[in-house]
Amino acid sequence: MKVLVIGGAGYIGSHVARCFADHGIQVTIYDNLSTGTTDNLFPDYVFHQADILDYTTLVSVMREGFDAVVHLAAAKAAGESMVKPEKYSLQNITGTLNILNAACEAGISRLVFSSSAAIYGEPAYLPIDEAHPKQPANYYGFTKLEIERFLEWYDRLKGLKFAALRYFNAAGYDPEGRITGLEKNPANLVPVIMEVAIGRRPHLDVFGTDYPTRDGSGVRDYIHVTDLADAHYRALLYLMDRGESFAVNLGSEQGSSVLEILEAARRITGREIPARVTGRRPGDPATLVASSAEAKRLLGWEAHYSDMETILATSWKAYTSRLGNP
Ligand code: UD1
Repeated sequence: MKVLVIGGAGYIGSHVARCFADHGIQVTIYDNLSTGTTDNLFPDYVFHQADILDYTTLVSVMREGFDAVVHLAAAKAAGESMVKPEKYSLQNITGTLNILNAACEAGISRLVFSSSAAIYGEPAYLPIDEAHPKQPANYYGFTKLEIERFLEWYDRLKGLKFAALRYFNAAGYDPEGRITGLEKNPANLVPVIMEVAIGRRPHLDVFGTDYPTRDGSGVRDYIHVTDLADAHYRALLYLMDRGESFAVNLGSEQGSSVLEILEAARRITGREIPARVTGRRPGDPATLVASSAEAKRLLGWEAHYSDMETILATSWKAYTSRLGNP
């Protein structure tokens, strides 16, 4: 099987690409390297450095002939999307429409899309299942929800079959240590903690300890990126075998608080990891936890690496092997 992985040099895309290649899939990466890095490319891949806004190149690469496309190329900082919506309109909406149109033009009819728990917004109930109301609290989540709606129309009108994978909080690194490209300027909790532990940042800002949670800090469902990659593989096989579109949540079904993760990180890294409590970050719900029952039912998928110990230990290994262990 031959698959085009758009955004395959990035954090999640690099794990997906490696997983596919491990299963004998021929991988071609399409990435503009704006956040991705060549460190995440392997000799068994074909690589095109190009932008999804460059429609001509997109079509000509897709015409090389692929069984499916996996689309992970997006801007993903929820906070930034509230102050720079234009960036998210262009990269996420326009970029994705280019991919859908190019796939139709090149005769590709299977697509796996990186969606997000951000499409649900403030939880009406927990755990969040796929039927939960979809009222994104930030523009980033809005772009992901709109793209899911475009996908439904392209399915009806053009026969483009899709898997929309609604990630909760992706974290961790390849347990075998093969993915070494670190995220540039991360805003997410686990990589920020790693940067503090390794001495790149002076401290962690804990965004609020006055939430109605067990210790007052925000609770999220952290899912190991290796488990996410496995879900993409299963989603791809499902699309190829069954030819039916679907959308599923991908989470561990476990909630961890910011303070619990901080304590676990101190223990695992052996570092002090200075932290200070600041105010809440606008748009942050108190608790987000997934029901992944549908992914289990449809794909036979379940998380195996998503305990906090493994998430933090594999992250620390990636950071120390890349930046040294000061
Ligand atoms: C958000 C999106 C999610 C998206 C992800 C990718 C929402 C509701 N969620 O996740 O869909 O895929 O971004 O970027 O829009 N925290 C701190 N200090 C920090 C950083 C984070 O205390 O320096 C806290 C946050 O308040 C939150 C938790 O850590 O409680 C996780 O935050 P983060 O890693 O940024 O992810 P989300 O905002 O949950």
